[in-house]
Amino acid sequence: MRQMRLRIRCCLIVILTILSIIMFVSFYTILSQTHEIEQKSNIFKKLPDKRNLNHHHQQQQQQQHIPFWQALEAQNIYDINSMPRNYTVENQPNINDKIIENLFQLVNNHKLDIITDKEMNIDEFDQTFIDTIITKKKRKFNQKQDNAGDNLNTKRHKNDEKLSMATEKMISKKYNRELRKYVINTLWTYKRKYQDMKEINLADMLYEKIEQNEPEKLNTIWFEYLKTVTNLHVYNTDSKILRRILYRLLNNEILQASELTQGTQIKLILELGDGIEGLLKPYRVPRNYQTLPDHYYFSDIERHHAEIASFHLDRVLGFNRVPPIIGRILNITSDLLEHAVPDLAKTFFISPANNTCFRGRCSYYCDTGHAVCGRPKDFLEASLQILLPRPPVVEWHKITHPYRRSYSATKYAKWESNENYCYDKVLNDDYYHNRLLLDMTDLAAFDFLIGNMDRHHMMRISSFGPNSALIHLDNGRSFGRYDYDDLTILTPIRQCCFFRYSTFQRFQILYKQRLSVLLNRSLKTERLKLILINEHLIALDRRLNILLHLINDCVKQHSVAGVIVHDGI
Ligand SMILES: *[C@@H]1O[C@H](CO)[C@@H](O)[C@H](O)[C@H]1NC(C)=O
Ligand SMILES: *[C@@H]1O[C@H](CO)[C@@H](O)[C@H](O)[C@H]1NC(C)=O
Ligand SMILES: *[C@@H]1O[C@H](CO)[C@@H](O)[C@H](O)[C@H]1NC(C)=O
Ligand SMILES: *[C@@H]1O[C@H](CO)[C@@H](O)[C@H](O)[C@H]1NC(C)=O
Repeated sequence: MRQMRLRIRCCLIVILTILSIIMFVSFYTILSQTHEIEQKSNIFKKLPDKRNLNHHHQQQQQQQHIPFWQALEAQNIYDINSMPRNYTVENQPNINDKIIENLFQLVNNHKLDIITDKEMNIDEFDQTFIDTIITKKKRKFNQKQDNAGDNLNTKRHKNDEKLSMATEKMISKKYNRELRKYVINTLWTYKRKYQDMKEINLADMLYEKIEQNEPEKLNTIWFEYLKTVTNLHVYNTDSKILRRILYRLLNNEILQASELTQGTQIKLILELGDGIEGLLKPYRVPRNYQTLPDHYYFSDIERHHAEIASFHLDRVLGFNRVPPIIGRILNITSDLLEHAVPDLAKTFFISPANNTCFRGRCSYYCDTGHAVCGRPKDFLEASLQILLPRPPVVEWHKITHPYRRSYSATKYAKWESNENYCYDKVLNDDYYHNRLLLDMTDLAAFDFLIGNMDRHHMMRISSFGPNSALIHLDNGRSFGRYDYDDLTILTPIRQCCFFRYSTFQRFQILYKQRLSVLLNRSLKTERLKLILINEHLIALDRRLNILLHLINDCVKQHSVAGVIVHDGI
């Protein structure tokens, strides 16, 4: 009996062993047939070795459109930057210097800046006409609502509609004309109301709150800086404070790093001492990385150098509406990891190339595949912007941009199909019968120059009251293409045909002194090198020309006084 059991056991063991051997062999065969290992090494061979890039044409072509993944891998931007480039501008515009010179002369002859109060009212508009049209429009709108779903009436309704089309068109033309005059008049009224008002600054506004809660902050450079943040601009170019605050952003030790989790891409909040908080956006792609032709604006990656360049451009344009920002090189380990709050510290790791990385916890681009890594080791290039006081200390107003894009690959926004959209939606609305209208056109000009299609909201500090300028935050998705000018960004100016006089005068100077030269000079003050490559600088001159041509078209249609508004700002 015992021998029987032993034999059966032996047999079982032998059978199991044979089975395992068979399984192992077949598994190995399957594995080697897929050539997985071989394929991997082929992929690596296909990637061009950046250190050995020569001027061979084929490789140069590959270099022009750096794919996203390769861009993240790119070792050193300055090497890539030294490559000569060859590109053609899509839809190269027809620029005529004579037209632009004539426009300048035409506007200057108008002497808009010395128009007196009395003269302002010369262009009387037809108030009764506007009132009747508005009530008529409202009635029609109500009718439409009543008739919704009423099939019997539709046929007759259509005939009526056809008959009245011609007259409607005429009335609508007159309506637009009168509405334009009406809006210009409200802007003048607005100017009179606010032109003698003193600027309000944040330091005065917050003094009591800060004295109560954090009195130690009153003696900081940060508080000095708040004295220069007013309802009209977020810094004062003439004061020494700007230089001092930029110096602190660049050199202050980092005391704490945490993540700003709102938003789609990784941003950190750094506490810098002296009361200063900074917003950090890390290096993601090289300076000559072009937005991929198949990528939508809403999937574009944020570029730290675009944030820095936007600040300089905004300053050159004389807006002073982008909060101070600098480029800085950090040590990921000693500057960030060693001061990171636990939630952020958890996301740090060492990559296979032995670089220090972190991925954060934002909603997109915050996984290991899109991590921010030192290149090499601990070195991280980033933009650092001063963080203005947030709620509940200061109330912000987040205005949905009327020319917001659809943020969908299949849908269009209303303004894209309705050429009368500005009259219907913007000029018709009291909300825009003040500086906001011209702030919006200023912003459109700015966004066109930097190529930003991602302006979904307009931001301003509402604690300042109604006479408060827009603040141009979040410019990371700009400077994505230098070979393409997106004309749709200019739609607010093209459809509304309004433009601020002081901005126009400034643009006249920039045209004569060359915007690219002035910006290039301004960027030289940065510690980081080559914030904008030449291709982007050249594109700015081209875009300024396009913008001036567009204003010329408006002036031709509505006259100088009907387009260029001197609102005292
Ligand atoms: C630039 O590229 C185009 C086409 O890719 C080519 O025809 C042209 O000769 C190139 N120009 C220079 C200066 O290399
Ligand atoms: C960064 O800081 C760490 C820790 O202090 C140090 O070991 C490392 O050498 C620094 N890296 C660089 C590039 O300075
Ligand atoms: C990373 O560092 C480890 C340990 O110091 C070393 O063995 C490895 O070769 C390094 N890897 C690379 C890609 O340099
Ligand atoms: C900007 O400055 C750099 C360095 O001085 C110069 O090489 C480049 O040509 C300038 N670019 C423009 C557009 O003026």
